[in-house]
Amino acid sequence: AQAADVASASSFRAFEILHLHLDLRADFGPPGPGPGSRGLSGTAVLDLRCLVPEGASELRLDSHPCLEVTAAAALRPGAAAEAEPVACHARPFSHYGQALCVTFPRPCRANERFQLRLTYRVGEGPGVCWLTPEQTAGKKKPFVYTQGQAVLNRAFFPCFDTPAVKYKYSALVEVPDGFTAVMSASTWEKRGPNKFFFQMHQPVPSYLIALAIGDLVSAEVGPRYDLLFMPPSFPFGGMENPCLTFVTPCLLAGDRSLADVIIHEISHSWFGNLVTNANWGEFWLNEGFTMYAQRRISTILFGAAYTCLEAATGRALLRRHMDVSGEENPLNKLRVKIEPGIDPDDTYNETPYEKGFCFVSYLAHLVGDQDQFDNFLKAYVDEFKFQSILAEDFLEFYLEYFPELKKRGVESIPGFEFDRWLNTPGWPPYLPDLSPGDSLMKPAEELAELWMSTELDMQAIEAVAISTWKTYQLIYFLDKLLQKSPLPPGNVKKLGELYPKISNARNAELQLRWGQIVLKNDHQEDFWKVKEFLQSQGKQKYTLPLYHAMVSGSEVAQTLAKDTFASTASQLHNNVVNYVQQILEPKGS
Ligand code: BES
Ligand code: ZN
Repeated sequence: AQAADVASASSFRAFEILHLHLDLRADFGPPGPGPGSRGLSGTAVLDLRCLVPEGASELRLDSHPCLEVTAAAALRPGAAAEAEPVACHARPFSHYGQALCVTFPRPCRANERFQLRLTYRVGEGPGVCWLTPEQTAGKKKPFVYTQGQAVLNRAFFPCFDTPAVKYKYSALVEVPDGFTAVMSASTWEKRGPNKFFFQMHQPVPSYLIALAIGDLVSAEVGPRYDLLFMPPSFPFGGMENPCLTFVTPCLLAGDRSLADVIIHEISHSWFGNLVTNANWGEFWLNEGFTMYAQRRISTILFGAAYTCLEAATGRALLRRHMDVSGEENPLNKLRVKIEPGIDPDDTYNETPYEKGFCFVSYLAHLVGDQDQFDNFLKAYVDEFKFQSILAEDFLEFYLEYFPELKKRGVESIPGFEFDRWLNTPGWPPYLPDLSPGDSLMKPAEELAELWMSTELDMQAIEAVAISTWKTYQLIYFLDKLLQKSPLPPGNVKKLGELYPKISNARNAELQLRWGQIVLKNDHQEDFWKVKEFLQSQGKQKYTLPLYHAMVSGSEVAQTLAKDTFASTASQLHNNVVNYVQQILEPKGS
């Protein structure tokens, strides 16, 4: 329980945070400094307890240069009834944050409880994302939202920005007329016409505190689990903010095909939000278990065939990632060693998701009985809920729960050692059987094979009725075509003409793949679709692969990359802008 976190500058082991209260006002003025410009301003009040037996005279919080602290005061026991000013200065930490050091006039004693009140303002920065009216779906009013994971909430409020510790929070948010504020909280109430009060009654890590303000409307569609459909530039498919998952509007595809994302985010309620990775090197504990839960739920709801097809698509993404990055890349370990100074978000890739899924599937396979393993997962969540853990905590619990497996020494079966799973990069030593998906995958593979030919057998091709296919089958088919690309000259053009359902798709997963095929085959006629797609949404997992494909394509494709970025940069999330810039002009070139 004393896990370190090199991505936090804070003294989160020296002080316990019991509660956070934010009292903020949102202004939607023009960007930039100066009065009336857009920003959040107010106070953050932290209830703290000193944990150091010898006492402590300095407290460090995670913060960011964009966050301007104008006053700091502490309310200490035995002192004046009023909060007293305390000295506070910033210290450099990394390119993604800085430390805020608070020095007490007299040291805090062990166990001493006190309140720290910081008055601050945050305008432009990576944690709070401001959108102009044109950047929203309604185009009438501006919008602001926060995205905390992994280390961006230090640019929203000063805190212990580590997943290692959890605390309850409340917030009072004042908005201009006609705006609604929402947060990742268990309850909310209106406090006057323009004030919203939120309370999170369960302890959560900093990265799960989220706020959005805009011209919001709501609809009741079933028992409570709230989703917020974000503006198109939201960089993720979904973000599991507790009680209020944020999702991309791309999910509104009209065919229910992207419901997996919702299942995924709901699954984080247990894996990630209740049981949390203690640092970002253990991100697979969040994502690998969530993928496993997602696919268990999907199997029950939609059947094994569909779920295996979806899992095969995930496996193909992992394959491509490892091919591109090199199997031996240290990022391809389940447990990533995050070096000081490295932004955890820069280590993001498919490994924690898909290799994590394989490891959990392997552990289920060792148990051999699905019911027993499902029960184990429940017991695991029950054991570690509201805590932050390391892989060891989980694996120890697993072996205790299944003593026969422990006796058999399953943690050291040659080739499948738990240590190898965690600490060796490369392809998973065990892959779950996806053959129940064959009935859906085989036709797609066969059709892709037909399209490989220089002499197209149109009769055979037209005999395949793709109009009856599920979206995921089309996705799988397109992935196969992409793997085989470039196709013989002329084939992509014919393909686009024969399947307008694909080449003119409005489903983002299909648009992504059609764009990738278009670029890999230098099918310039459809380049405009790539640009249009990138202008229509800003999800990181769609944006980066397309820019990668453009810069490694023809000169025309490279120009397309520059033109597209010039027209979309202002809309994209800060992190995504940086990653695209990195693709367009790699450092050191
Ligand atoms: N928690 C992640 C999103 C995330 C990860 C944000 C790391 C910031 C840093 C979320 O649960 C997620 O994995 N979303 C996926 C959807 C999914 C079905 C795999 C996405 O956005 O694509
Ligand atoms: Zn996730």
